[in-house]
Amino acid sequence: MQTIIHKTSAYSDTDNLVLVLTEIKNMKSGLFSEQELDYMKEYHSKHKKNFFSFNRMVNWVFVVFVEKESEKSTRLESYRLEGSKLQSIANGHKLNSLVVADLENKPEEILAFAEGIALKNYQFLKYKSKAVEKLNSLNAIYLFSENLGNDLVDVMNIIIDSTSQCRNLVNEPVAFLNAVQFSQEMGSLAQQSGCKVEVLNKKKIESLKMGGLLAVNKGSVDPPTFTIMEWKPENAQNNKPYVFVGKGVVYDTGGMNIKTGSSMNDMKMDMAGGAAVASTLYAISRAKLPVHVIGLIPATDNRTHGNAYVNGDIISMHDGTKVEVINTDAEGRMLLADALSYAKKYNPELVIDVATLTGSAMRAIGTYGIVAMQCKAVNEFKKLAKSGENVYERLVEFPMWKEYREDLNSDIADIKHLGGANAGAITAAKFLEHFTDYPYIHLDIAGPAYFEKTTKYYPTGGSGVAVRLLFNFIWNKVAGN
Ligand code: BES
Ligand code: MG
Ligand code: ZN
Repeated sequence: MQTIIHKTSAYSDTDNLVLVLTEIKNMKSGLFSEQELDYMKEYHSKHKKNFFSFNRMVNWVFVVFVEKESEKSTRLESYRLEGSKLQSIANGHKLNSLVVADLENKPEEILAFAEGIALKNYQFLKYKSKAVEKLNSLNAIYLFSENLGNDLVDVMNIIIDSTSQCRNLVNEPVAFLNAVQFSQEMGSLAQQSGCKVEVLNKKKIESLKMGGLLAVNKGSVDPPTFTIMEWKPENAQNNKPYVFVGKGVVYDTGGMNIKTGSSMNDMKMDMAGGAAVASTLYAISRAKLPVHVIGLIPATDNRTHGNAYVNGDIISMHDGTKVEVINTDAEGRMLLADALSYAKKYNPELVIDVATLTGSAMRAIGTYGIVAMQCKAVNEFKKLAKSGENVYERLVEFPMWKEYREDLNSDIADIKHLGGANAGAITAAKFLEHFTDYPYIHLDIAGPAYFEKTTKYYPTGGSGVAVRLLFNFIWNKVAGN
């Protein structure tokens, strides 16, 4: 169930109240006895305690002190984090709703606090027999903040919902979510939000000669799909569309280069890029942003099979490039390459792809950010990186130096799909670059796409990373930033 955020202009003595502030001098008068205030002063100032709770029998009162920070990005993140901590406490007390009071006139920060609560309050209970018992009690947050705009609250609810939709898709096992089911789920998102959707079936994919997607799919008993979502409102302010491309590998066994040990365990998440793109299109169309945006999601599983593609195969891709296969576990770039060359037909303003592409990206920076690269998109990259700071899905730019391209030279075909042992995230991007001729940004989300255990405001499983990022990027286009 979604946690809904509301703006309120009043609250009563029986509401559970959360007071958020950075300095005790801003505490609202009349709520606490002198003794209680002295207690808070002592423990907050001297002992750095930043959380207090008071059981008033008919309601709870929580006091949350947030560290003062001048830098906006880290400040908003602190509010999200404090919100996510309060989420467990509120559910621990079986509370249904909270009123969060903005004592310091910081509407953006208060909204971030609610965002942290709501993002953390997500649950995936579809496969729990006793789901009702496990359901979090908390389902509503009321923000008492005079200068908070209603429109921002509405948009935040869309962002939370879209992130949850993305997480649901990522958390679904392949036993349910094969490529065809994935495309149907995206169809349903499109229908709910009002954007257009078209699903290309295997026959159509064959007629388009998408050799990369078809090669990976050879090892599957299920057909591939290629989903196209489009939001093109009449008042679109851009002439050329923004195109988002998402990796939709619904399960990655590695194929004939089968993954060993536990490295296969979480590979239902290998469509997290595709899910993020679909959920972003859903968010943009729900918010009716006046921007023309297209989402492309090629999907299949990557498995072993009597007829699976093998190393040494030479694949003719959608754009005619002949690719020498080096390792069947480097499958994502095969389907992304086809989608990237397909994107040329839209004459795009910019293409951004999102993919759980390489273990190399995760090893390089861990789960704290997104490995990102760009070609011919210096300014757009700066704007996307700014969005990354806004939503705290930060980008780390890696170089796209021409020397890396030499790793992909093939003796027998036009290009190899895999480079050497070093700089795997970069050589993957250099391979993808080959299929582009437009301003291009590549996002490798292998690190932050999935958490094995609850981290910050990410419950175990799919994080929904890149949905808030891409939405913020398009949102800022409208605001004229
Ligand atoms: N889906 C994986 C990348 C991945 C690894 C995502 C871990 C999330 C967590 C990708 O298809 C893959 O298997 N990459 C291999 C490539 C290698 C065989 C060259 C990798 O990075 O190990
Ligand atoms: Mg793989
Ligand atoms: Zn993969």
